[in-house]
Amino acid sequence: MKTTLFVCLGNICRSPMAEGVFKDLLEKQELQEQFSCDSAGTAAYHTGELADTRMRETAQSHGIMLTSRARKISVEDFDNFDYILAMDKSNYDNILALRKQRQHEGKAQVMMMRNFSSSPANQNQGVPDPYYGTQDGFEEVYQILLDANNNFLNFLKEQK
Ligand code: 4NP
Repeated sequence: MKTTLFVCLGNICRSPMAEGVFKDLLEKQELQEQFSCDSAGTAAYHTGELADTRMRETAQSHGIMLTSRARKISVEDFDNFDYILAMDKSNYDNILALRKQRQHEGKAQVMMMRNFSSSPANQNQGVPDPYYGTQDGFEEVYQILLDANNNFLNFLKEQK
């Protein structure tokens, strides 16, 4: 079983959607026995909350139910996950800072989610934070994550 943790800032918008999209792909391709995932935030502001209503509505419009509750990333996550995918550079830097500060390497490979985007022009970018924006931003996040997660899943299949 290869395990992945999707990480953003609050764990109520981007990373729960990444988790929901990835689980949906696993279900459709009957790959739940081989791969699993979870999500977390680098901040604890929203611990215990469901994903943002706007993100849940966007997910639902694509047939995906977001049921996860927000939690903060912990050092044990470096042991429990094979891959940690950061939504943006700030999340990425915070994840590496936690690892360094706690001197806890673990096994996880930390990468940027959009490294798996189909378009090379997007591969160095972050998944935009939709929290303070309009509803369109949430749909854009879904489209970005669907594309990147399709490619990420193909990458995982090739690792075996
Ligand atoms: P997320 O979005 O990192 O994609 O979950 C945010 C959620 C909450 C806040 C910022 C970003 N906040 O400042 O509360």
